[in-house]
Amino acid sequence: MNILLTGGLGYIGSHVAVVLTEAGHRVTILDNLCNCKVEVLSHLAKILGSSPIFIQGDVRDQVLLESVLKDGKIEAVMHFAGLKAVGESVQKPLMYYNNNVGGAISLLKAMKICQVKTFVFSSSATVYGVPKYLPIDEEHPTCPESPYGQTKLHIESILRDLANSDDAWNIIALRYFNPVGAHESGLIGEEPNDIPNNLVPYISHVATGKFDKLKIFGNDYKTLDGTGVRDYIHVMDLAEGHVAALNYLNKKLPKFSIINLGTGAGYSVLELVNLYEKVSSRKITYEISGRRAGDIASCFANVDKAAFLMGWRARRSLHEMLEDSWRWVSQNMTIEL
Ligand code: NAD
Ligand code: WQD
Repeated sequence: MNILLTGGLGYIGSHVAVVLTEAGHRVTILDNLCNCKVEVLSHLAKILGSSPIFIQGDVRDQVLLESVLKDGKIEAVMHFAGLKAVGESVQKPLMYYNNNVGGAISLLKAMKICQVKTFVFSSSATVYGVPKYLPIDEEHPTCPESPYGQTKLHIESILRDLANSDDAWNIIALRYFNPVGAHESGLIGEEPNDIPNNLVPYISHVATGKFDKLKIFGNDYKTLDGTGVRDYIHVMDLAEGHVAALNYLNKKLPKFSIINLGTGAGYSVLELVNLYEKVSSRKITYEISGRRAGDIASCFANVDKAAFLMGWRARRSLHEMLEDSWRWVSQNMTIEL
């Protein structure tokens, strides 16, 4: 199929581009480069033998989107383009609503005009808010705690209404848990522009020596060792989940589905620190600091729906996630090891 990936030069989109191309699809990427480097394209070419089609542009540019959909004979869209920093969204909510919700509306309007009605959306487990029970299934109540999370929930509502309005739409919102790791080549991976907020990118740069130490945000949670527990999923498993989603959409069964993508297992911050030391053979110095505002003790997914509907389950271990993260940062760092 001809598939458009918005935000396809970013962390998750670039890995999905690899898996889709390897599965025989023709990928077109549209990205405004606000949180990625254009060099990702040449790294994709190294992995794939040739580069996906790339258009530099913004999803809020409806006219551009219409021409991309028509010219590329696009049959399905995977929508990764969005801003994703929870803290920044609290400081700049309008920017988040404009980019994320505004971007989704422009894109969907262009799709409707061009009669492209197969859509996969990057949603997030952040829509669940504080867990009322674990593991979290898709029926769990939603209560996002940040403007970022609200944008995801608003877009899900728009998608549900759209699917109800017209049977021709086929839509899946994938709620990702905590994607980590990198392609096994070490050529593409997560590359935050600023100081990373997320755990694995931060640990990885304590390992490279870029940062002195990790601050562990609290060790007094009701968890095995007191530190926060999350459902980390290898980005390549996540990418394969998108191929499964596309195959499911092509059966044209339901018009709108919400599906968790996680492993179903939770690991603590200290477990990650200890394993990262093993895979990198480097010391991860840390200190225990206060809890981070808005953090929760534990969060992990019930992944039965993905297995039942799409026949997909994550298969890579935490060891592989951290090993691939380390290969990516150690191959691409400028600091001497
Ligand atoms: P990313 O920032 O690496 O990738 C997003 C890409 O979208 C970037 O390349 C950026 O340049 C582009 N972009 C942003 N706004 C755009 C716009 N208006 N027009 C065109 N391009 C635009 O982020 P990611 O980690 O790859 O996340 C992809 C999607 O998955 C996002 O929607 C994010 O909210 C969602 N998500 C990510 C995580 C995670 O932990 N990484 C978890 C849950 C959900
Ligand atoms: C994981 C654990 C921290 C950094 C976020 C977003 C969520 C989703 C995924 C997009 C927690 C601890 C972290 C550090 C630490 N993204 N930690 N020191 O908060 O589960 O989820 O990313 O949709 O919306 O909120 O992930 O990697 O930030 O934190 O101790 O320097 O690591 O307290 O327990 P989180 P994270």
